[in-house]
Amino acid sequence: MSLFARKPIAVADEQSGMRRVLGAGDLVMLAIGAVIGAGIFASLGTAAAGETLADGTVVRYGAGPALVISFLLLGVVCGLAALCYAELASMIPQAGSAYAYSYATLGEIIAWIIGWDLILEYAVGNVAVAIAWGHYFDSLLSGFGIDMPRWLVHGYFQAAKSTDPSIAGLIETAPRLLGIPVLVNLPAFLIVAAITWLLVIGVKESTRANNIMVVIKLAVLALFVVVGAMHIDPANYRPFAPNGWRGIHQGAAIVFFAYIGFDAISTAAEETKNPQRNLPIGILAGLGVCTLIYVVVGAVATGLVPYEQLKSADPLARALTIAGLDTASWIVAAGAVVSMAAVLLVFQYGQPRIFYAMARDGLLPPFAARLHPKYRTPHVTTILTGVLVAVGAAVADDAATYDLTNIGTLAAFMLVCVGVLALRIREPDRPRPFRVPFVWPVALGGAVACLYVMRGLPSSAWIAFGIWLVIGLALYFAYGVRHSVLRTGRAPIANELDGPAH
Ligand code: ALA
Repeated sequence: MSLFARKPIAVADEQSGMRRVLGAGDLVMLAIGAVIGAGIFASLGTAAAGETLADGTVVRYGAGPALVISFLLLGVVCGLAALCYAELASMIPQAGSAYAYSYATLGEIIAWIIGWDLILEYAVGNVAVAIAWGHYFDSLLSGFGIDMPRWLVHGYFQAAKSTDPSIAGLIETAPRLLGIPVLVNLPAFLIVAAITWLLVIGVKESTRANNIMVVIKLAVLALFVVVGAMHIDPANYRPFAPNGWRGIHQGAAIVFFAYIGFDAISTAAEETKNPQRNLPIGILAGLGVCTLIYVVVGAVATGLVPYEQLKSADPLARALTIAGLDTASWIVAAGAVVSMAAVLLVFQYGQPRIFYAMARDGLLPPFAARLHPKYRTPHVTTILTGVLVAVGAAVADDAATYDLTNIGTLAAFMLVCVGVLALRIREPDRPRPFRVPFVWPVALGGAVACLYVMRGLPSSAWIAFGIWLVIGLALYFAYGVRHSVLRTGRAPIANELDGPAH
């Protein structure tokens, strides 16, 4: 059978042993929980101010106050991709998100590449969020007068790359183990460990915790907007676009991180009641709400202080502090900690379900398809993801992880757009509970727009992405190609290891 063999859409739906407990409201809350996080609370600063190395090399140009244009453009780009996600999610309501959709539309090898790609979005993305969480948590502790040793706040690779002497210097001053400087983001490690535990014990408990966190994050952003709007200095809006279109484009390429996540809820398809109706509602409503919030927050942040001053690990809190609003700043920092924990929760939830779907298809080893006999969660992959993300977050550099996450996610979005068209051509009569309106301009426009945003990322991101893809293909030819359920005709392995399926 060909490497481009497509999985029949009806097959896998019967295999699921997960419980259907989530409604449309839960999904919108999951989407907001996934979307509003480190992107708006942390990467906004670099998107507005740009990034320059110590030797003066410009890594990327900032958008300045024109960041609101970047946000609007991204809202449109993600809206096009979201429509495509919604069509496929409603037709193919299986765990696995874009991986499952591409298996049914573009064939096995493309599906594998997308599944491999989604690790960048989910696991590597969470490394970036956890790092930002650690820094905000550190700021909060400082507010209480507790100062953690710096070598327990900055990971090794972050210190090695930093142009800030107080961080770069830690390489010399940190305690050593076997001659290696011990530099770890301890709070980042611990939050990932805690969330992993929450997810192993079950989805319903986790979504309830998510709902509370979403309410808190909306409240602190409302506070930022209301308090900040009263202190805007219109002079800060001039020049509006200091680096012209290049700044708007490159700013958009990094702050795209803020939009990642509306697609994550499609990974919950097998745990959703009436997914044909509820998934499209959840995806599109979640994206609309978040775009509106970002434009307003971006306008207030760049009006509150000169945009260069947003260059910081905690730009929203920093902007309030500079404006002399200390109490509001502290509350926003506390809210950021809560918000980013919610993001971590949704992605730590999604990644194991993608591994689960891939293992169920035989592209990953069978242990990854195990469900917990009591909690019915994919506990093996949940714990595996937890360990990888926690260790990554403890030592990695945040800027590199934002870039790698963005390029991988945009590539997956692009292929989802193409997948919609492929399926319209191949199976025009298959029932589509949700149909993309004006499918050709929307899907083609979505694919081209994603590629365009990708082009705004630095070359280091493209190189890392290329290496990632080569490793993925090597693994596919070493394992998946010989174990694929579809290609070998073996019986599906799902759920047979730990207990009965139903
Ligand atoms: N959109 C998510 C965030 O900004 C990943 O944290």
